Amino acid sequence: MKNIHFYDVLWYTDIIKTGDRSYKRAYMELNSSGDGIDSWKEVNLIYNAALRQIETKMEILNDEFQHVHQYNPIEHIKSRIKTPESIVKKLKRHGYESTIENMVRYINDIAGIRIICSFTSDIYRIADMIRDQKDIRVLAIKDYITYPKASGYRSYHMIVTVPVYLSDRIVDTKVEIQIRTVAMDFWASLEHKIHYKFEGDAPEHIKSELIECSRMVSDLDARMLSLNEEILALAQSKEDTYQTSGKK
Ligand code: GTP
Ligand code: MG
Repeated sequence: MKNIHFYDVLWYTDIIKTGDRSYKRAYMELNSSGDGIDSWKEVNLIYNAALRQIETKMEILNDEFQHVHQYNPIEHIKSRIKTPESIVKKLKRHGYESTIENMVRYINDIAGIRIICSFTSDIYRIADMIRDQKDIRVLAIKDYITYPKASGYRSYHMIVTVPVYLSDRIVDTKVEIQIRTVAMDFWASLEHKIHYKFEGDAPEHIKSELIECSRMVSDLDARMLSLNEEILALAQSKEDTYQTSGKK
C-alpha cells in the first residue's frame, strides 16, 4: 500500500483476475451513482495519502522519542483501506444509499491505522502527541481502555482529519486511529476470528472466557507496566550513584 499506482493496479487486477463477484458488485455499486470511476479512484488516492501522512508522522514521533528517551513507544504500525464490499455493507447497515458522497461523509473508518505499543502509558502518550499536531483535527475519541466494551474489547480510538494537499485543493481526510498494546492486539485478533466464525453469535462459555481473558490482558498490561517502571527506576538510581561517585 506504499505506492499508490501499485495499489490501484492491484485493486483493478483483483477485480478482473479473481472475478470475485461480490467484490466486483460492490465496486460497481459504488460507481453506479454517477460519481464515476474517476471519483472512486481519486477518493482512494486521497485516503491512501492520508494514511501515509499519519504513518510518517508516527514514525517521526517514534524516532524523536528514541533520540530523546532512548526508547520506542511504538512497536509497530498496521494500516488498511476498507474494501468496497465492507463500505457498501456498512452504508446499507446504516440505511444509506451506496454512493461515494455518502461513503466519504458517513464512514469514518475507510482509512484505518493501528498503532501497537508495549505499555498502556505509551497509548496515552501517543494520543497526546497526535492531539498536539497542529494540522491534525480530532473529531472523536473513544477510550475503550477506561471503558472496555461488553465483549471485553480494549483499545483507544481516535477519528481525526489530516489535510491532503492536491495540486488544486486541500482535502481534510478522515482516518480512524486505533491505539492498543501488544496484549490488547493479541486479544482483539482472536476475538475478531471467533466473532467471524460464529457470525457474532458465539456460545456463552466462549464469550465469558473471552471476557475473562480480557481482564487477564488488562492485569498483564498493568503488571508489565509497573515492572518496567521499577526497572527504569533501578537503572536511574544506578546511574545517579555512578555519577555521584564519579564526581568525588
Ligand atoms: P464499526 O461499525 O465496527 O466500525 O463500529 P463503530 O463505527 O461503532 O466504531 P467502534 O469504535 O465501536 O469500532 C471500530 C472498530 O474497532 C471496529 O471496526 C473494530 O476494528 C474495532 N472493534 C470494536 N469493537 C470490537 C470488538 O468487540 N472486538 C474486536 N476484535 N474489535 C472491535
Ligand atoms: Mg470499523
